[in-house]
Formats: sequence, C-alpha cells, structure tokens
Amino acid sequence: MVRKIGVLTSGGDAPGMNAAIRSVTRIALNNGIEVVGVHNGYKGLLDENFEPLTRASVSDIMDRGGTVLGSARLPEFREDEVQNQCIKNLKRAGIEALVVIGGDGSYRGGLSLTRKGINCIGLPGTIDNDIPGTDFTIGFDTALQTCVENVDKLRDTSSSHHRCSIVEVMGNHCGDLALYTAISCGAEMVITPETGYDELEVIEKLRYLGEAVHKNHAIVLISEKICDVDALAKKVTSMTDFSGRATVLGHIQRGGSPTPMDRMRASRMGEKAVDLLMEGIGGHCVGIIDNEIASVPIQEALERPRKSRKALYRLFDRLV
Ligand code: F6P
Repeated sequence: MVRKIGVLTSGGDAPGMNAAIRSVTRIALNNGIEVVGVHNGYKGLLDENFEPLTRASVSDIMDRGGTVLGSARLPEFREDEVQNQCIKNLKRAGIEALVVIGGDGSYRGGLSLTRKGINCIGLPGTIDNDIPGTDFTIGFDTALQTCVENVDKLRDTSSSHHRCSIVEVMGNHCGDLALYTAISCGAEMVITPETGYDELEVIEKLRYLGEAVHKNHAIVLISEKICDVDALAKKVTSMTDFSGRATVLGHIQRGGSPTPMDRMRASRMGEKAVDLLMEGIGGHCVGIIDNEIASVPIQEALERPRKSRKALYRLFDRLV
C-alpha cells in the first residue's frame, strides 16, 4: 500500500490545476496517505523543492487560476542522469508515487519515472485540449470562455468600424481553441493546423464576404504559429473592403478563475489518480471520455490518433 505520494504541475499552467491539486491531496489524506507538493514541476524534483501538504494547504484554492505549486518546463528532464537524480531525491524524501498534472511532455516524464520504479499517474492539465485519452483537458473550458468573452467584445468594435478582426488564439498545434471559439462566436472564418492556411484563399473569401454578401464586419479566428497576423491584417486592409486589425489574445488565455466544468473535471480526475496509485498502478493517464472517468497506459494514449474534428468543422461551414 502506498504511504506517501507527491503531486506536481508541469508545462504551461492551466485554470483548474489547483482544483486537481486539491482533489489529489484531499482524497489521499482521507485515505491515510501523506502528500508532498513538488514546487515548479520537474525542476522541483531536481532541486528537492518539496512541501508537505495538509488539508489546510489546499483550502481556498479551488477558485484560483494558475497553480499554487508553480510550474516550469525542464527539457533536461529527458536526460537519464537527470531522471536518476530525481528518483534518488524522491526516495530520500520517502515519496513512493507521483501525480503529474500537465501536457504530453509531462506525461512522457511520468512514464520514464514509472519505468525507473516510481509509479506516476498523468492528469491532462493544459488549455490546448491536445492531450489524448480524454475528451477535454483541465483548463480548456476556462480558456474557451476567455476567448469567447474577448471575441464578443471585438465583434462590437469591428461592426462599428467595418473591420475584419483577425484573432490569434493559443493551441500549440491543436485547433480546438480556435474552432470552438469560432463556432461559439459565429466567426466568419477559422484557420487552424487542421484547416491549413492559404493567404490568397483568405483574402478571396473576405472579398466575397465584403463585396458579394455585403457583410459589415468579419471575425477570423486563427491558431497561433500559423502566420504573422499583423502582416495578414495589413493585406486585408489593402486587398479587401474591410480594414484589418489583428489581436493576439496571448497569455490572458491561461489565466482566470476556472469554470465549474474545469473544477469538476479536475476533481474527478484527481480522485481517479489517487485510486490508481492505491491499486499499485503507474504509467497511466486519466481522462473523461463520454462523461465517464477513464484511464489508459500513457504509452497507448500517446500513440492514439486524435479524435477527428471533422463534424465540428462541417458544422462551422454550415453555420457561416
Ligand atoms: O501549452 C500551453 C501553451 O499556452 C500553448 O498554447 C502555447 O503555445 C505555449 O503554452 C506558450 O508557452 P509559454 O508560456 O512558454 O510562452
């Protein structure tokens, strides 16, 4: 029976991570398991930045954005030597198993530690919704709400000024934030890694919307890392009826109090993580699929193809 577990948050922070930390801590303590918070992700494992967590340490954090444990990216964690040092540090602290809340890089780290003898369970914490093994990641719903609130505001001013707002959202090579925002805000166009990008096509479509459909304004949602949105906005101004303006929502998408849906997902997944560790299982990741809590081996999850978004892209096209 596991007696002491650690919990850490790693990679980009996401609203709901605190609710997950709280859930892991409370469920474990209620089962007689000690909990140690690891500060600053895998870096904290290396620096032995540990803090025992009590019921009170996780009080009043459910509604807070960010992560009270801090987060970091540690590319060196891929190195064998670094992992071995972390294992030593964990053993010295008497930490027998670990819950890792983060993205796929964090999952890979957890898998390596499991193979070296410390059972790890991964929870999907990222706004990008790009983690296999779950329908939605912790943080996606809150980030989506932030995007929708902001795009609604941009629509007000674009419609007053006959403008085309080009709005860049995050996603790390996954188009979900752009797609879900585009549908929720009634955008005119969505450009993601899944749709591909052709500048001429975008200009042609905007020309058509302006000249043939007589649209007063237009909203274009675009995933990050696709093109220079300022340059695209200038082209829109020079080549179409609209005056183009680019807005990069940026890190604002990562902040804010988590939505009830993110709090629920985080609480459910935290519970499952502790249950798995109590059963002696490691190297798995937790998700919610069709509203049922689920877990699969991390390796299997990482190899699974992403669920197709075809139906949602089709819906978007049919709503324009
Ligand atoms: O993975 C979360 C994320 O916010 C991505 O959407 C984005 O590409 C990246 O992190 C930004 O990372 P950083 O905070 O290091 O700039």
